[in-house]
Amino acid sequence: MPLGTFLLPVLCFLGAVIPRGLQYVTFSRNTTKFLHLSMDLESGTIYLGATNFLFQLTSDLLMKNVVQTGPVLDSKDCLPPVSKLECPQAHHTDNHNKLLLVNAVQKELIVCGSVHQGICEKRSLTSIDHVLFRPESPGDTQYVAANDPNITTVGLIAYSKDEVPLLFVGRGYTSRGVGGGIPPITTRNLRAHGGDVQATDSHSIFSYEETAKLAVGRLSEYNHHFIKSFTYRSSVYFLFYRRDLKSQSREYKTYISRICLDDSHYYSYVELPLLCQSKANTYSLLQAAYVTRPGKDLAQGQLDTEGEVLFAAFSAWQASSGKLSEESALCVYAMEEVDRLTNWTRDVCYMRDGKSEEGDTLYAYPCGSDHTPSPMASRVPLEAAPLLEKTEARLTAVAVNVEDGHTIAFLGDSRGRLHKVYLGAMGDARIYASLAIQLNSMVSGDLLFDQLQEHLFVMTQSMVRAIKSLPQKT
Ligand SMILES: *[C@@H]1O[C@H](CO)[C@@H](O)[C@H](O)[C@H]1NC(C)=O
Ligand SMILES: *[C@@H]1O[C@H](CO)[C@@H](O)[C@H](O)[C@H]1NC(C)=O
Ligand SMILES: *[C@@H]1O[C@H](CO)[C@@H](O)[C@H](O)[C@H]1NC(C)=O
Repeated sequence: MPLGTFLLPVLCFLGAVIPRGLQYVTFSRNTTKFLHLSMDLESGTIYLGATNFLFQLTSDLLMKNVVQTGPVLDSKDCLPPVSKLECPQAHHTDNHNKLLLVNAVQKELIVCGSVHQGICEKRSLTSIDHVLFRPESPGDTQYVAANDPNITTVGLIAYSKDEVPLLFVGRGYTSRGVGGGIPPITTRNLRAHGGDVQATDSHSIFSYEETAKLAVGRLSEYNHHFIKSFTYRSSVYFLFYRRDLKSQSREYKTYISRICLDDSHYYSYVELPLLCQSKANTYSLLQAAYVTRPGKDLAQGQLDTEGEVLFAAFSAWQASSGKLSEESALCVYAMEEVDRLTNWTRDVCYMRDGKSEEGDTLYAYPCGSDHTPSPMASRVPLEAAPLLEKTEARLTAVAVNVEDGHTIAFLGDSRGRLHKVYLGAMGDARIYASLAIQLNSMVSGDLLFDQLQEHLFVMTQSMVRAIKSLPQKT
């Protein structure tokens, strides 16, 4: 009798008794590049945006649905709809996913790609192959994402006071196509006006025409590299870096900007530099960020805060090579401090406006008005010293959770590893576990916890892996 006959049942048995917690469930594809990961916390469904594909996965990372989104006939120089007749230079172009957002209230997935000037679609959360809305002949203000794979786009869905769903978008400058004319930060409608339900000829869905946009001077001078956007209290925040073209050193700086959620003119726009600096090194380029309430230890220790905290991974700029260096650091900022300096900037600007009743202006218009100066920017940075510095691989992802009052950071790096770091009360940090997710494939900034924070979903260019985020109860 061949040996295999005996072995087989034994192997099956073994497979069944391995405790589930010790296995890593994985979803991988080597024929596309994974770009964005998103989750519907309620159902646990996971959405994955890739080059030319969208995937819908269960919380166990089993594939439920896949949709092909490219390549499509396109050219950056032509406006959609694109045809060979009107646009002879059009060719089959890869569609890189730029924005992937779950709107749990409306049960829709917002998907924006790099083709067709960055237009977006709405798809059903329960089955992504069902398109709910796609503009067939989009207007200029319906172009959303950057039409270039290398230029970042960030965004979030928020509801205004009167329950109107809005899409806030930050996109970097692109010189080709209509991109050059789109402001770096815009608010877009997610709902059609009046009776115009979701007709494909709706020109209001995804448009910023009747909503707000950030008015800046020459757009090419505001070449932002956006990292993240988030809401905190009743404001929207954007994190980005850009080169300071006006300074002699033309150095890169990271900024945080704040807009009141209900400000439909961006009168309240304030930005300030974020500095992450140790004695030996300045880390000027933000790579990833996460906002959450820390454990009691950290909150009551050095940070001394009751609110949420911004955990930010930075890397250093190497002027000699003109590249990002592998040297990186983790800095933390209390959101109360961010708000205090933002408020101070606003208040100083209002007073310079020459109003005698400054105090009254502040109380009457905390979010600005047509007679207050805007946009506002601070030269004074918010500074922090790193909790952790690393030299061997660039930090590319951060997520944080709390175990028994202790703050634990999960840091992904450019070499495909994930590090678990204990953040102590007095600004001490200790890496106590490291795990290879996929060697030499950068960990994506989209690190997601499930609703109970039991699992962390980690993505590289061709793999998504669910790992246990809590210690095993024994
Ligand atoms: C890609 O995956 C397929 C099927 O899993 C495998 O046969 C192939 O060797 C892989 N290719 C590369 C380059 O890893
Ligand atoms: C994007 O960046 C990569 C690496 O820097 C470069 O090789 C590629 O040509 C760029 N793509 C475009 C469309 O600019
Ligand atoms: C900033 O200003 C707003 C509105 O004026 C106020 O509600 C908030 O408490 C201020 N925050 C801080 C930290 O001072």
